[in-house]
Amino acid sequence: MLPRLIANCRLPIADLMRPLIAQIGNRQLAIGNVRLGPMFGTIGILTGGGDAPGLNAVIRAVVKTATCEHGMRVIGIEDGFEGLLGPTRTRLLSPSDVRGLLPRGGTILGTRNRGQFVERACEGTDRDVESVYQEAISNMKIVGIDALVVLGGEGTLTIANEFDKRGIPVCGVPKTIDNDLACTELTFGFVTALDIATEALDRLHTTAESHDRVMILEVMGRHAGWIALHSGIAGGADVILIPEIPFSLEVVAEKIRSRDVSGSNFSIIVVAEGALEIGHELVYQDKGDAHHAPRLGGIGQHLQQDLERVTGRETRCVVLGHLQRGGRPNAFDRMLATNYGSAAVRAISKGESGVMVALQAGDVVTVPLTEAIKGIKTVPPDGQLVRTARDTGISFGAADEGRYHKSQ
Ligand code: F6P
Repeated sequence: MLPRLIANCRLPIADLMRPLIAQIGNRQLAIGNVRLGPMFGTIGILTGGGDAPGLNAVIRAVVKTATCEHGMRVIGIEDGFEGLLGPTRTRLLSPSDVRGLLPRGGTILGTRNRGQFVERACEGTDRDVESVYQEAISNMKIVGIDALVVLGGEGTLTIANEFDKRGIPVCGVPKTIDNDLACTELTFGFVTALDIATEALDRLHTTAESHDRVMILEVMGRHAGWIALHSGIAGGADVILIPEIPFSLEVVAEKIRSRDVSGSNFSIIVVAEGALEIGHELVYQDKGDAHHAPRLGGIGQHLQQDLERVTGRETRCVVLGHLQRGGRPNAFDRMLATNYGSAAVRAISKGESGVMVALQAGDVVTVPLTEAIKGIKTVPPDGQLVRTARDTGISFGAADEGRYHKSQ
């Protein structure tokens, strides 16, 4: 392919071709009767929503693949889509700018949870909403960005899809520690968060056992129980409480009592921030508004007080919070993030748009963005992992929990 030839040629030819590539934009290029596929001169990359381990590894892979293999330029957009508004905040990213990024947590580009796209969509008229997209698109033209690679979860990718609808080539990369994006088996960042939660459970085990206490670990995950389920199994929890299976306080208390009777005088509970007690409402730290996203949290504290009251057992709660998001990605997330980043550039260079790279049956493929943002991926309550957890003695505190456990 021509971009490849240009890239492999270390002469200034790549620079000479750039204005041509920029002019061609996303149109098909033909030399004689050889069709060369859509070509883009410059990819804009941004990170949106909450950070997750592996963001920098994706940025690195995108820059290396785009510049070294496809002869494209990469422009980093700061603070999510916000960097495309007003006085734009963008910077050219070369391979030397991404050196050493593989193990680095956070995002060198900055990120925002809620920005003007969401705020104007919540508060404004359709015209206000359209004007914000048009402002961003005209700024992209001024800066010279032809296509976007967007690293984000469901909210960020919903905005990305709006750019695709307005003719901007877009490829999404699935990011979130919650692992709740549809159409992909894994989002990058999840497995690192899982390691952190599992280590916390290991540490809680020794102190719980020493003091004969009930220890509760509250983990993130929004309205999906993936972090709680996976870490609960990996960390040997006695009770896992997830949004997908509403729990009864009495059933959880009974599990603790039955452990006491069997000689285990301590118990470990992992509770997802979005877990729901039957007959109660979700527990929020902040219900949010147009400027702030709602923040779940606090269910662990409630559970601690209620369990202490009904069981009479000394109980403590630890909220793991943002420790799940900060710091170095583990080896798996570095690999997955790199694979996603390179695949995103390949998709853009082939002329795909309105897609998200996704992991399916071990391979990175592309799926329509519209499918990925249709709804979140939650834990199937009758799925294999829940079954395995129950088979190994873990209770989900369901009203009918007893029918899954022969020993109860
Ligand atoms: O989506 C990632 C996530 O960490 C959720 O698990 C959590 O509910 C939320 O973000 C916390 O957001 P913030 O960083 O705004 O507190």
